[in-house]
Amino acid sequence: MAQVLKRPNGTEDVTPRDIHKWYTVEQVARNVAESYGFGEIRIPTFESTDLFCRSVGETTDVVQKEMYSVIAKETQFTLRPEGTAGTIRAMLQNSMLNDAMPQKVYYLLSCFRHERPQAGRLREFHQFGLEMVGSAAPCADAEVISLAKSVLDTLGLKNIALNINSIGCPKCRAEYHKALRTYFEARKDELCETCLSRLERNPMRILDCKSPICGEIAKDAPVILDYLCEECDTHFTQLKSYLDTMGIAFTVNPKIVRGLDYYTKTVFEFVTTDIGAQGTVCGGGRYDGLIEQLGGQPQPALGFAMGIERLLLTMESQGCDFLQPKQCELYIAPMDAAAVPKAMEIAQSLRAEGFRVEYDLIGRSFKAQMKYADKLGAGFLLVLGENELSTGEIKLKNMATGESTACKLDETFTDTFANLAISAMFSDTLDGIKF
Ligand code: HAM
Repeated sequence: MAQVLKRPNGTEDVTPRDIHKWYTVEQVARNVAESYGFGEIRIPTFESTDLFCRSVGETTDVVQKEMYSVIAKETQFTLRPEGTAGTIRAMLQNSMLNDAMPQKVYYLLSCFRHERPQAGRLREFHQFGLEMVGSAAPCADAEVISLAKSVLDTLGLKNIALNINSIGCPKCRAEYHKALRTYFEARKDELCETCLSRLERNPMRILDCKSPICGEIAKDAPVILDYLCEECDTHFTQLKSYLDTMGIAFTVNPKIVRGLDYYTKTVFEFVTTDIGAQGTVCGGGRYDGLIEQLGGQPQPALGFAMGIERLLLTMESQGCDFLQPKQCELYIAPMDAAAVPKAMEIAQSLRAEGFRVEYDLIGRSFKAQMKYADKLGAGFLLVLGENELSTGEIKLKNMATGESTACKLDETFTDTFANLAISAMFSDTLDGIKF
């Protein structure tokens, strides 16, 4: 037999066995984002490569090493490595930024980065993220951070630390870059080749290098907080005070620089120690210069993204609740081919009422059907034989209690089944989580 093809390294399959875990995260994310007034946006999986070079930044690891790019019909495209650039492009292209501000959108999407796969680090991964455009006020930063925290809390996650920092604006960064260059010049011989090339163009990127030697050197580098201009410093102070007002605990971590170039002022990360080295479940911040950089009218903006796989790993490691998948509510066992049309008819009418109904599609023996109904975890069993078809008198067996209820296969049947199902309490199985 030919060997079964394997999925590419760093990608994952999600089968029906686990999909309810994804539904849990997606449903919580949607509910919380919508309760803050955000609307969903959907954007293409690929964009012109230029969009990411101009936004994420030419000197970042993402652009230099991790993008999946193709040339198709002489144009270079890239599978999105993140959601912000495409979302802002779409907001500009759809004239959303001419409407009342702030504009608030959220997204659930796949991203692609050619990184070395490990637990919590994939080459295709998924993000829940959002972007808010049009507010320069620090209360917008607090609002976005509070939304992220609310998603994490609603999912039932514990021990997630919030780290914040300010990386200033182009004005204060000029001085900071000078200080960094002086610091790294002195240890130039030890830097990796990529960082050497970053020294002139963007020394802040060295702080984010994954090489252990560069990381060690970066430990004692000057920190941006010491170089903030008055405006950035006031913004950061106000944000901290709003977070205090909202009762959101945080730590100022002057080492956070983020791996993407568009950030200005506030940056933040939510981090757990429960899933190993890749513990950042959410990252975000302000990017007040990006919209102008992409050709729009200047607008302040900010946002964040959470890695869904990392959220799920953390939820599993902490034993959080998931929405439970809906089980088969009725299994119909036709005794022979003559009973199949009736089974089809009953199944269709109950499905139209929202019930999950299945019947034998393989021609199994009676015994095998009973086993299969058990395996499905069916709530009720209905056996359809010659007798049932001729009299219209049937029995619904509650599979959990073994109790049988006699009823008629007539126009009252749907209501009878609905009442039984409700009293058996399995018709609403999506109540594992409170929103
Ligand atoms: P990011 O920090 O690159 O930011 O990614 C956000 C989150 O995506 C990370 O915190 C992590 O949970 C997840 N993530 C990143 N790379 C991987 C990977 N290789 N495997 C699994 N999960 C991963 C952004 O993408 C920004 N666009 C966030 C943002 C939105 N900033 C402002 N608005």
